[in-house]
Amino acid sequence: MTTNPTLADLAHRATASRDRPAYGHDALIICDRLVRVFSADGVEVQALQGLDLLVREGELMALVGASGSGKSTLMNILAGLDTPTAGAARVAGHDLLTMTAKDRLAYRREVVGFVWQQTSRNLLPYLTAAQNVALPMQLSGARRGKGRRARADRALELLDVLGVADCRDRRPHEMSGGQQQRVAIAVALAGGPAVLLADEPTGELDSHTAEQIFAAFRTANEQLGTTIVIVTHDRTVAAEVRRTVAIRDGRTSTEVLRRSEVDETTGHETVVAREYAMLDRAGRLQLPAEYLRALDMRDRVALELEPDHIAVRPDDSARE
Ligand SMILES: Nc1ncnc2c1ncn2[C@@H]1O[C@H](COP(=O)(O)OP(=O)(O)OP(=O)(O)O)[C@@H](O)[C@H]1O
Ligand SMILES: [Mg+2]
Repeated sequence: MTTNPTLADLAHRATASRDRPAYGHDALIICDRLVRVFSADGVEVQALQGLDLLVREGELMALVGASGSGKSTLMNILAGLDTPTAGAARVAGHDLLTMTAKDRLAYRREVVGFVWQQTSRNLLPYLTAAQNVALPMQLSGARRGKGRRARADRALELLDVLGVADCRDRRPHEMSGGQQQRVAIAVALAGGPAVLLADEPTGELDSHTAEQIFAAFRTANEQLGTTIVIVTHDRTVAAEVRRTVAIRDGRTSTEVLRRSEVDETTGHETVVAREYAMLDRAGRLQLPAEYLRALDMRDRVALELEPDHIAVRPDDSARE
């Protein structure tokens, strides 16, 4: 038997919720109702339609979604390469809507690092792996007063962490696609960014190589503590991170969280995955399409507040 909460209970809860801290106050990346509208040949495309996303410091997470759902649009905004039409976006305290051109340049050099799908876009072809990694340090390090020697040492250290130290004197065309992407991760990490963004970094690679690249991201996350957001089409890759957020029609829709559980008697570790829906600040919720289909729900559903959950049932008004 369930008892519905009294009005006094509900009023008390409502008051408590008003004292809640601001949206995303403790997050490193905050997207709040982010909108990006493109106009091409007089046609408007709403690539992002009020996207909400919070990423905490130290997270390694994946973004998935159908082609055209807005993943790259979001990544380009977070990378400081594109500006949103409306909404709010903050990364490590930087407001991406109000930044000046000068701030934007510094932001791209010092706050974010990125790895693109096309291996050729990530590295300069006429520089060796070690020189490619040292270059961003040279650009931002002049101010920090780091010497050439220190930069070279740091470059080798990064290549070593990513398992490509043996490629240090090779130019991109002398490396495999997988090696190039691992060097690209080292380049992206060279400036010591707060956030590493990668848009389909394994898109041009076979699945075995993709796994190695993914292991490299995990190493960077664990050893350097860098917050990492990766866009991927690869389901198995997405399943290797603790958190996968799905984007649908320019909005975040559902997310899957995974945690490992150890069976006390057998000692076996299993990964338990659970799907969640995003709740926006207006209380809007997007239910997974397959759930709606399973119960033939559309247009209207019946809601009931229970002490510890909300029941969503098919509309039964026609039957009464
Ligand atoms: N510069 C642009 N001008 C006009 N429309 C654009 C532009 N960039 C993206 N779009 C449109 O915005 C929508 C979202 O595109 P986006 O590239 O973000 O998708 P995506 O999720 O990265 O897809 P994919 O998985 O294919 O890479 C698409 O309809 C796309 O055509
Ligand atoms: Mg894309």
